This record gives sequence, C-alpha cells and structure tokens, in this order.
Amino acid sequence: MEEIATLEREILAAIGGAADEQALEAARIAVLGKKGSVAELMKGLGAMSPEERKTQGPLLNGLKDRVTEALLRRRDALKETALDARLAAETVDVTLPVRPEMRGTIHPVRHVYDEVIQIFGDLGFAVAEGPHIEDDFYNFTALNIPPEHPARQEHDTFYLRERADGTRKVLRTHTSPVQIRTMMAQQPPIRIIAPGRTFRSDSDQTHTPMFHQIEGLVIDETTHLGHLKWVLEEFCKAFFEVDKVKMRFRASHFPFTEPSMEVDIGYARDGAQIRIGEGDSWLEILGSGMVHPKVLSASGVDPDRYQGFAFGMGLDRIAMLKYGIPDLRAFFEADLRWLRHYGFSALDLPTLAGGLS
Ligand code: DAH
Repeated sequence: MEEIATLEREILAAIGGAADEQALEAARIAVLGKKGSVAELMKGLGAMSPEERKTQGPLLNGLKDRVTEALLRRRDALKETALDARLAAETVDVTLPVRPEMRGTIHPVRHVYDEVIQIFGDLGFAVAEGPHIEDDFYNFTALNIPPEHPARQEHDTFYLRERADGTRKVLRTHTSPVQIRTMMAQQPPIRIIAPGRTFRSDSDQTHTPMFHQIEGLVIDETTHLGHLKWVLEEFCKAFFEVDKVKMRFRASHFPFTEPSMEVDIGYARDGAQIRIGEGDSWLEILGSGMVHPKVLSASGVDPDRYQGFAFGMGLDRIAMLKYGIPDLRAFFEADLRWLRHYGFSALDLPTLAGGLS
C-alpha cells in the first residue's frame, strides 16, 4: 500500500518533469511498457492469494488509470507548448514597412485591360474568352476568310506543325475567333467583349509578335450602326476621361463585316503630353462594322432574324495613347526601370466610381 503510493508519486513526478514528447514517451515505457514498473507489479498479482489479490488488484488498476490519465494530460500540454513556441517563432509583424526592393507594379497593359472591362461592364457587356492556339476554322474560315483568301497573307500568321489529317492550328491573329465561339455557344441577344493576346509574325517600332486586342460583339434583332457608333463614343469618353472626343469613321473593308469602318481618334501632341479630343492628329485605334451574314450563318445564328455589330481594338495602342508611352516594343522587354516608371500601384484598381487611371 505504502509502496504503491510512493511509486505513484515518483511516476507522476517523472511525467510532470518530461520536457518534450520524446521524454514523455520514455517515461510511459518505463511505467506501462512490458517491463515497466506498473506492469511488473501487475505480474505479481498472479502469485498472490485470492484475498490479497482482492485488495491489491483494484489498487493497481487505480494506479494504472491515474498514470494513463496523467500521461494524456501531459501530452496535450506539451503539444500546446510546442505549438505556442512555433507560432511565436513564426510571427510576422504586418505593420513593418514593405522592403523597397520588393515593390512591384501593375503593367500598363494589365491596367488598361481592367479599365476597359470596367467600362464595358458598366455598359452591360460580359467578358468572353477563347484559346490562343486556335483552329483555322475559327480564326479564318468562319470569319468569311476561306482558304486562298488574300486576307490570310495580310495576317502574318504563325502556323503550328501540320497534323495527321492535314490541318494546322494557328496562333490566333486576332480576337475575332471569340465572336464565332460565343455565337456557337449562346443564342442572341449577345453582348460581349473579348480582351486577350494575339500573335503575328511582325516586328518593328509599332508591331510586336505578341500584342493585345479587345473584341466586341453585339447581336440582337434590331442592333444597327448607330448603336455601334454610340457605344464606341461612350467608351472613348470614359476611357480617355474626357467630355468630348474627336472620332473619325472611315469606310474600310474586312471580310467579316459589311459595311466596315475603321475608327481614328483625334489628338494633339504637346511635348510628351498627348491631349485627346483636341488638335488634328489622328491615330487608328480600331476596326469595326456590321457582322457579315455569312459569319452569322457559319456560327449557327439566323441572319434573317438577327444582326449586330463587332469591333476589334488594339489594347496596346490605346494604352500608349492614354499614358503617352512612345515605343510599343518597350511594353514587352520587362525592363524594371520602364515598369517602375509606367506601371501602376497594385492597390489602385480602376473603377468607374473611384477613377480609372
Ligand atoms: N480582326 C481585325 C484585325 O485584327 C479587327 C476587326 C475589324 C475586328 C473589324 C472586328 C471588326 O470585330 O468588326 O485586324
């Protein structure tokens, strides 16, 4: 009896003194393991008389229960201490200033992308997307540019390797294939924009092999050229943040629209400053027109019931114009000095209410 009480005090002291989970496990084995002190006492029960066993049995079982309980409690406590120590070691002081060399900026193209989405979103347009590696059908044929059509040469297309069936995929040369994909996937009324990357084998001060466009498409029963003009004017006013814009609509030709127009925007250059809506310099920013009936048919839209307009705008160009950036190639050179100069704060997301630029 006395012996058991002493043993218990010793065991509990050992458990309480275990400094980590490893030490605790060693203490557990020393007590409850096959050759542990309590296990050895239990073994002695067999040699006792039935009377002795009656008193010693419950005593030993009680001891075992209390020891087990103490082990579990100590384990929990150690786990908690270990976690606290880890949390303390991993503390980050979020009030410390950001290290200056880690400061990044949002690329002007990405910023303009977000501005354009905000403006057209406000006009009720949804954003649609399509793949960069495109089927010839979507990039050309469905847009009324059949094989051998001269417009194919104008596009300086990057072709992928010919496949077993003789077809070749292309890097999309414009965002117009998204028009086809959208019309095939949904019935009118349709009102979408499709911003994204486009690719042409062309490189000089105003052309890069990869550039950005934004496509627009509106299809309904009564949509007409006046709607197109209004949408483009509203867009330009909002984008360039001016009350009045000077726009010039020139008759043009695209295989996928009839009639077709190119749109120039008027500006004045004042040193490095560019003023939109003043002066008499013009920059072409987009192609547009009424969607050709053949394009509607190729996309499964009934041309006797539906009509609409489309436009394709150079995103890099309007970025250059708005932010007075002279050389297109610098956009894609990843020069940190350039990015710091022309980039935008990651916290300044453009919104119509809060201001775009
Ligand atoms: N896809 C033409 C290009 O890249 C631009 C364009 C012109 C798009 C007229 C249109 C459009 O949607 O109607 O040169």
